[in-house]
Amino acid sequence: MANDAEKEAAGGAAAKLVRDGDVVGLGTGSTAYFAVVALGERVKAGLKIIGIPTSVQTADLARAVGIPLTTLDEHPEIDITIDGADEVDPKLNLIKGGGGALLREKVVASASKKMVVVADSRKIVPALGKFPLPVEVIAFARTVIERKIVALGASPKLRTKPDGSPFVTDNGNQILDCSFGKITDPAVLAQELNSTPGVVEHGLFIGLAKLAIVGRGNSVSELQAKHARRKRVQTKHVRTKRPRRQTKRR
Ligand code: 5RP
Repeated sequence: MANDAEKEAAGGAAAKLVRDGDVVGLGTGSTAYFAVVALGERVKAGLKIIGIPTSVQTADLARAVGIPLTTLDEHPEIDITIDGADEVDPKLNLIKGGGGALLREKVVASASKKMVVVADSRKIVPALGKFPLPVEVIAFARTVIERKIVALGASPKLRTKPDGSPFVTDNGNQILDCSFGKITDPAVLAQELNSTPGVVEHGLFIGLAKLAIVGRGNSVSELQAKHARRKRVQTKHVRTKRPRRQTKRR
């Protein structure tokens, strides 16, 4: 798929930013997958890093490609995190959580000196909100929160597994996918959700990403948060044998 080539180009380019000795936050999803695989290749070639995975799925992948892992207890400061996104706006505000890992992803991003987003070109949007915003909730509070989200102008939908039962996150919670349409002020909405009891986390990542690496055809562009400066970089990527890829529910 054309998109896979863009994801691979973005993931591979981001993996090159990691330096010897770094503590690296490892994102979740089909784009972060390519970054983790590329980092695994660099580790095999002698790079010394230690990873903090944002999901059980990514922990399994990292082990399979030979990246040693640690925890936030042992390394509460992360040098660089590479993660995907469902939408990226011009200020590098993000919607994340399509893969259900938003809570650990936000904790890891917040503990990082630098968060680099990797994305294919379809993720770049003028304004957030077309992608339903994932909101992680405790099951006990779900109905109350659904009513609040409706009052905020969205239609929430409980994320389910193929058998119809609720999808359960790595943290034992449920996810409401909330269609807001265009979100005019992401910071205000984030604040509203943050102050709702029973909401564990939501997928609005405001001001966390410093750089986005976006696959475009067989090259990548860099978007920077401060100046939204664009740089086009020609890349070559070599396909390597890799373990089973990550899947996610949309
Ligand atoms: C997982 C995420 C992912 O980073 C996001 O869903 C993008 O995934 P993909 O790279 O597969 O499109 O937030 O919780």
